[in-house]
Amino acid sequence: MFRPDLDQLPEYRPGARNDRAVKLSSNESAEAPLPTVREAMARSLEQINRYPDNGAAELREALAAHLGVAPEQVAVGNGSSGLCLQLVSATAGAGDEVIFPWRSFEAYPIFAQVAGATPVPVPLNAEHGLDMGALAAAVTERTRLIFVCNPNNPTGTTITTQEFADFMAKVPSDVVVALDEAYFEYNRSTDTPVATEEIAKYPNVVGLRTFSKAYGLAGARVGYAFGPRPIISALNRVAVPFSVSVPAQAGAVASLELVDELRARTDTTCAQRARLEDFFAAYGTPHSEANFVWVPAAHLGRTPQEAAKALEQADLLVRAFDEGIRITVTDEAEADAAMRVWAEVLQG
Ligand SMILES: Cc1ncc(COP(=O)(O)O)c(C=O)c1O
Repeated sequence: MFRPDLDQLPEYRPGARNDRAVKLSSNESAEAPLPTVREAMARSLEQINRYPDNGAAELREALAAHLGVAPEQVAVGNGSSGLCLQLVSATAGAGDEVIFPWRSFEAYPIFAQVAGATPVPVPLNAEHGLDMGALAAAVTERTRLIFVCNPNNPTGTTITTQEFADFMAKVPSDVVVALDEAYFEYNRSTDTPVATEEIAKYPNVVGLRTFSKAYGLAGARVGYAFGPRPIISALNRVAVPFSVSVPAQAGAVASLELVDELRARTDTTCAQRARLEDFFAAYGTPHSEANFVWVPAAHLGRTPQEAAKALEQADLLVRAFDEGIRITVTDEAEADAAMRVWAEVLQG
């Protein structure tokens, strides 16, 4: 009944449920939505019998003002995941190649395969960061799209403005480069490319951001892409109609009015990140500019999966990959809990 390549796609396996646990496995915010956001979403339920505005005019206008671009340069989607999939569908098909760093956001190879394209993972460098030279060197005449995850999930590393400029100098102008800034609001580096500036320099760069992380709306599912009009128009053509719900649009619009409150929340996370980086210094943890820290497998003394299992038994949920463990950073209480449980279970 199905495509012959379907077996190569992983099936979703829900994580273990544990309501007692401190959940630091999905890079979510620990805080409930701010009151005005919650109120706007609740009010929007009064119109839930109607389809959402498919053009998301109010949200796209608010985003355009926020980003300093025209509304026609903004597309919204069902999380930035939805937009990543739309980008692959709009650029690549059978026989085409989609390049991405690895390890990075787990959905990149899956989305490439869903579109029938060939995923081309490019290993991170020895510092757990993106190897921009290797990413550029992986381009062939079949390459249609390159994901550049900055800061990188799951390692938290960032690239420099010069590294991005050198990379762009090597990438053909008909290959789309997606600057995935899902963790942009936590990135305090002063020497890092910023998509709002890069989209003005190149006709083939598109920025991706989300309301799921710093804005604390992961459950609402709304993300956005911004860039040159032809790329935005292509994204809109492959969109599932009405994919951003009425409450999601209302929550996102209300969030954009709360810049100071949200900045304070991300400042808290960045302060806790510094504490966790100190705690994990002996493990070779790289500096993170995201809302998580990376503990490489090399100094764990056991596999990341074994370590995560032991932590889970002590009610601390983290994300294990073959290469290491990712721990989400939220507030002081959860950072304290993470360090206490880690020390008891893995250093005791
Ligand atoms: C790098 C990166 N991009 C995109 C996403 C997608 O986020 P969402 O679909 O919730 O907007 C994530 C989520 O974990 C991510 O880590």
